Amino acid sequence: MPKRYKIAILPGDGIGDDVVEAAMKVLDTVGFSNQAEYLYGDIGWEFWKAEGNPLPDRTIELLKECNCSLFGAITSKPKEEAVAELNPELRNKGLIYFSPIVKLRQLFDLYVNLRPCKAYPGNILNYRDDIDLVVFRENTEGLYSGVEWHPVPEAVMKVLADNHPKAKRFEDFALEDLAISTRIFTRKGVQRILRSSMEYATKVGYKTVTVVEKPNVIRETSGLMVREARKLIKDYPSLELWETNIDAMAMWLIKNPQDYGVLVTSNMFGDIISDEAAQLVGGLGFACSGNIGDKMAVFEPTHGSAPKYVGQNKVNPIATILAAKMMLDWLNEKETAQQVENAVAEVIKEGKTRTYDMGGNTSTTEMADAICNKIENS
Ligand code: NAI
Ligand code: MG
Repeated sequence: MPKRYKIAILPGDGIGDDVVEAAMKVLDTVGFSNQAEYLYGDIGWEFWKAEGNPLPDRTIELLKECNCSLFGAITSKPKEEAVAELNPELRNKGLIYFSPIVKLRQLFDLYVNLRPCKAYPGNILNYRDDIDLVVFRENTEGLYSGVEWHPVPEAVMKVLADNHPKAKRFEDFALEDLAISTRIFTRKGVQRILRSSMEYATKVGYKTVTVVEKPNVIRETSGLMVREARKLIKDYPSLELWETNIDAMAMWLIKNPQDYGVLVTSNMFGDIISDEAAQLVGGLGFACSGNIGDKMAVFEPTHGSAPKYVGQNKVNPIATILAAKMMLDWLNEKETAQQVENAVAEVIKEGKTRTYDMGGNTSTTEMADAICNKIENS
């Protein structure tokens, strides 16, 4: 019988293998694998080195066939190092390394980066036990669009100087002494991230949506976000809109994180505050995220490939297991998702099974087994 879902499994580099394997065990145990066909795909540094492409076309084709994907982690390195590690035959071809996950977000228009930060009771790493917030980060534009130059082309500099009085003071610099990264927002991009955050808050029952920007200084882009938020919130009478500047938000997250529900922000600010928020609830071993579009989604732990732990079966797989749980939620397999979350919560609460980051010496596999055990006995 054909299975109900096709899921692309992309373990990637480094500890990606260990944590994805752990999550797959949980998906097997919870019975999801009976309904799903898993297609394993190539992504990451190894494929950059061997083929000059960290996201081979065959992987893109594979993703197009799937409902969604579970992704582990990849290694990225700066421009010069990336070229130096290329297969010698590929070195002089002018290939430029790009982040495959950023590319996936843009290619499949995965405009929401959803990062839940929930403190599971009993986790000794919790900053407080009553934190339950969610960050909605815009995922396809803003400072991470990749529209940037160094050196700056003369034509670009001229257009800026001709069109903006504040650009004049940069005109006298040599073009190679100038670097520009643009922060482009579109009304469509702004509206859809805001709307998704408000829909989610309403559905899940959060009372507030906080738009986190800096409109007093970055008047046009942050300004657009805040202006649109004020308009859209009118469609959601059960929600209160809070407006907080990014710098103040960094402070409020330390001072009283329990006050916040849904936070919504642009790409780079979201990257930063979601890491901060993750640290309040246990850090990288617990931080999961979803890159979500209208038709496709990629779920992943927030952490990277942690090269120093490769091959040690040591890191915490909970972030990836919770990413798999988010995937189940997105597929509307609510009951199965809840079973996974309950099992994770129980293991944390019990406090017997702890990976090194939680002050214990449980291995990645043993943590997965403990979670599977709870599922089997539930
Ligand atoms: P990282 O997230 O890989 O690791 C930083 C540190 O966090 C580790 O050394 C470890 O102490 C801890 N850590 C990470 N995952 C953990 C887990 N599951 N359990 C317990 N502790 C954990 O970040 P780093 O070292 O800055 O980057 C390593 C590589 O990963 C780089 O090449 C970087 O570009 C890439 N990266 C990839 C990401 C992705 O695939 N989405 C995200 C972040 C970094
Ligand atoms: Mg980050």
